[in-house]
Amino acid sequence: MTRRVIIDTDPGLDDAVAILFALNSGRFDVLGLTTVAGNIGLERTTANAGGLLDAAGRSDIPVVSGAAKAMLRDNIDAIVVHGDDGLRGVKLPLSRTAPTTGAVDWMAKTLLDAPSGSIDILALGPLTNIARLALHHPSAAARIGQLIVMGGTIDQPGNAGPASEFNFACDPEAVAGVLRADIRTTIVPLDVTRRVRADRAFVEALRGTPIGALAADLLTAYLLDDSQSRPLHDPCVMLLALAPELFGVEFRRLSVDLGDDADAGALRPRDSGFPVSVAMRVDVEGALSLLASGFR
Ligand code: RIB
Ligand code: CA
Repeated sequence: MTRRVIIDTDPGLDDAVAILFALNSGRFDVLGLTTVAGNIGLERTTANAGGLLDAAGRSDIPVVSGAAKAMLRDNIDAIVVHGDDGLRGVKLPLSRTAPTTGAVDWMAKTLLDAPSGSIDILALGPLTNIARLALHHPSAAARIGQLIVMGGTIDQPGNAGPASEFNFACDPEAVAGVLRADIRTTIVPLDVTRRVRADRAFVEALRGTPIGALAADLLTAYLLDDSQSRPLHDPCVMLLALAPELFGVEFRRLSVDLGDDADAGALRPRDSGFPVSVAMRVDVEGALSLLASGFR
């Protein structure tokens, strides 16, 4: 059974691998890509989203751009990781996919036009679009089957601030807005994603298909050395959607640091915090095997 999904994303190298996996695996019915500023600016994340769809022969899938900036704060970026084109120089076909604007309204209409609970949202970047959906279209947000979010960190150090993860640090107010909303949400934090990495042998083994070869190019740009890539953060969202049995998910009550220091966006365990499911364990071998299977 394929899962009907909207992918909200800021591609970005790991986003790109996650999107190609979703498109090629045959296990997702991707209804659209909604884009957000994050790793790099909105214009670039939107162009990269269109290029990925064209590379996969799926220019039938819409790209709808969303937030160019966070709800209240100045943007930060991850150009140091993803390069100023967002893909560290990996070339995609010139996108023929003409993006439209208005991601939040498009998500709302898509959710309202479908049976309640039949569409999941896979969130791979800052949560600005999702928070605005919950704020301006609560009845549509309530129809989300499940929201799976790459973001946050529980016991691991942050990658944006000492205790804050990048997606959540980009827009802490959006994180609070999403956790406050009545949406069945699972967070995939750094505690899990940092354990899922590719080595060069894994990467080279993907080169049996054109999409696999593109994924291999993207992962090559994401390698730290022959033995490991940077963490496969965003692909973990797709893997959890397909095979939750590979992950250990726990119930937590969390609040979000809305301060103005380097820990803005950090998650704090609080008895009064928002109830949310959090993936804290992963079968690394099983996750990498499932990821590779999506490119055959
Ligand atoms: O902290 C990792 C997250 O931030 C990933 O989604 C990566 O693409 C960046 O957006
Ligand atoms: Ca991302």
